[in-house]
Amino acid sequence: MLTFAHISDLHIDLGDRATARAGRLVGRLALMPDLGAVLVTGDIADHGTAEEYTVARDLLARLEVPVLVLPGNHDVREQFGPGLLGRESSGAEINQLVTIGGTDFLLCDSVIPGQSAGLLSESTLTWLKTALSERDPARPALVAFHHPPAMLHVPFLDRIRQTGEERLAELLGPHPEVAALICGHAHTAAVTTFAGRLLVVGPGCVSTTLAPVEAAGLLDLEVNPGYALHILGDDARLVTHFRTL
Ligand SMILES: [Fe+2]
Ligand SMILES: [Fe+2]
Repeated sequence: MLTFAHISDLHIDLGDRATARAGRLVGRLALMPDLGAVLVTGDIADHGTAEEYTVARDLLARLEVPVLVLPGNHDVREQFGPGLLGRESSGAEINQLVTIGGTDFLLCDSVIPGQSAGLLSESTLTWLKTALSERDPARPALVAFHHPPAMLHVPFLDRIRQTGEERLAELLGPHPEVAALICGHAHTAAVTTFAGRLLVVGPGCVSTTLAPVEAAGLLDLEVNPGYALHILGDDARLVTHFRTL
C-alpha cells in the first residue's frame, strides 16, 4: 500500500499570498512522516522565472519525503529543470518515470509552450508507450500530467483542457495496470473517468474554480487551499481523500 499526497497549482510568484498558501499546505504535509511521496501536478511557478523556482524549491525542501514535480502551462521548461529537478532542460518535454514503493509514476509533460491549453506531443506519447511496455506490468502504475484530458463542465476550463486525448486512451488500452490518471490545472478537486479508469483532478492551492451552478467562470480566492491524499491499495485500487485547510 502506498499513501501519497497531491497538491497542485501553487502559482508561486514573488508576492506573499501564493507563497503563504503553499506554505500552509507544505507545513501540513510535513507533519505526516509516513507519507510515501508528494506529487505536485504543475503550475508550480506563476511566471516560470528562476527566482520563483528558488522560492518553490525552498518551500518543497521542507518535505522529507520524495517530491514528484511536473510542469504546467505557467511553468517554463528551461527554468523548471534547473530550478526543481537539479538538471538542465533544453526546452524539450520533461517526462519522468519515478518509482516509489513499488509503484511507477509516469509523469508526462502536457504543456504547449506559450499556450494555456494542453496536449501530449507525439514524442511524449512515444515516451509513455515505451515506458509502459518496458516496465514490469505486475507493478501498479499511475500516469500524471497537468491538463485534464476530459471535460469538467466548466466552460472556461474545458476550452483549455488537454485535447487529442483519444491518442492517450488508445495507448492506455493494453495497460490495465495503470490504476488511475492524476492531474491539476483546473483548480478544483474533481473526479471523473477516462479510458475506463479513474481520473482525479487535484484541488488548487492558489485559488478554486467555481462550477457554473455556483458562479459561472469565476475563480474564488477565498476558499482555503486543499490537497488530496491518495491511497493505492495492494489491490491496485486508488482511493482519494480530499482535504481543505
Ligand atoms: Fe493553474
Ligand atoms: Fe494550468
